[in-house]
Amino acid sequence: MSPENTRVAIIGAGPAGLLLSWALRDAGIDSIVVENRSQDYVLARIRAGVLEQSAVETLTRLGLGERIRTEGLEHDGIYLQFRGERHHVDFQELIGRSVTVYGQQEVVKDLIAAHNAAGSTIYYEAADVAVHDLESSAPRVTFTHADEAHEITADFVVGADGFHGVCRASIPREAITLYDRSYPYAWLGILANVAPSTDELIYALHEDGFAMHSMRSPHVSRLYLQVDTADSLDQWPDERIWENLHARLGVPGWTLQEGEITDKSITPMRSFVASRLAYGSLFLAGDAGHIVPPTGAKGLNSAIADVTMLAAALAAHYADDDALLSGYGEAALRRQWRVQQFSQWMTDLLHRNRTDLQTMEFDYQSQLGRLDYVTGSVHAQRELAEQYSGLPF
Ligand code: FAD
Ligand code: PHB
Repeated sequence: MSPENTRVAIIGAGPAGLLLSWALRDAGIDSIVVENRSQDYVLARIRAGVLEQSAVETLTRLGLGERIRTEGLEHDGIYLQFRGERHHVDFQELIGRSVTVYGQQEVVKDLIAAHNAAGSTIYYEAADVAVHDLESSAPRVTFTHADEAHEITADFVVGADGFHGVCRASIPREAITLYDRSYPYAWLGILANVAPSTDELIYALHEDGFAMHSMRSPHVSRLYLQVDTADSLDQWPDERIWENLHARLGVPGWTLQEGEITDKSITPMRSFVASRLAYGSLFLAGDAGHIVPPTGAKGLNSAIADVTMLAAALAAHYADDDALLSGYGEAALRRQWRVQQFSQWMTDLLHRNRTDLQTMEFDYQSQLGRLDYVTGSVHAQRELAEQYSGLPF
């Protein structure tokens, strides 16, 4: 056993954990990151794609903005499509804000490169990770790494270990309430080696279900289709995927270009919030504390928002001001509930819910009515623009 000591022990090397450790280093605060997967696995995970303006500002302030500036695609708005008509919502014109398309994978790549160059301590492939003594001022983390038992003592433990991690589960059941909402559909996502057929993201409600056209670069497209929760990838050969994308995204005079599919996955949709993001010496950040369905593009951005607030709170704590740290849980949760309602709204607005045959057709017409209102009202568009491009943090 090799005992170690640090100020902040961080569980999870996803975007939340890696960014927190980097922001703490910037503030002169030691941390150690413990991750159960390999570095290659973490680097290869394909997930979110849109960064809010505040997220770009945070990453830039921390010296991580160079590739975002050269390779990120700045978008002034999005397209909403329904009844086979495409409508542009121009955030820049409405509220003077924009978003940047830059894959989560690229954010993680930049963070890992920065940590590796700085010689940060990150244990990858740690097994049996467990947290202890959370009610004390000297919490511990234990794990096995390269067949050796490890123990880290810290001032604080941060659970940045995602939805399935160990940290939230270590809070006594009676001390926490879990708010949960699942959706009766899933997203099938593909990456394809083909130039995007659109300049900005298209969110489409079609009779057959939701579809979306996003992108990763001028040469790589990212596309999504609403599928049933029970569907498996064998039921979705490439031809069926393209056929559905053409049908759901098609508008007269526009063609969706096809390309080689290099990745395919199905993701369930869920909304989830833990009633507390702070317990004793433990803080939760990112997916460990909350999950949104991806329709509003808020998962990664919420993780960055939590970590920005938590890093500032920990820096203030070490400068003898505890107000921010004692308020972190409540401040991050209040922000998160605003994000939750937006993600739920976008999801309900744009998907076909086929679970109740009696209300299904009514609901679809009502969704179209809502979309008519949103695309016809500058007030409604401003509200959408403000929430999509991101609440300040
Ligand atoms: P994570 O990225 O989940 O990172 C948590 C880390 O903790 C992981 O590296 C994990 O391996 C590690 N870990 C877990 N358990 C342990 C343990 N016991 N010990 C040590 N380490 C542990 N959001 C969008 O906005 N758009 C999308 O298209 C989108 N697609 C998604 C697709 C999938 C399949 C998933 C799961 C999420 C998707 N999201 C999307 C959400 C977004 O990717 C997340 O919100 C974001 O990754 C949150 O970052 P995080 O660091 O909090 O959590
Ligand atoms: C993506 O590019 O992966 C993406 C973009 C916007 C979303 C969800 C996913 O709302």
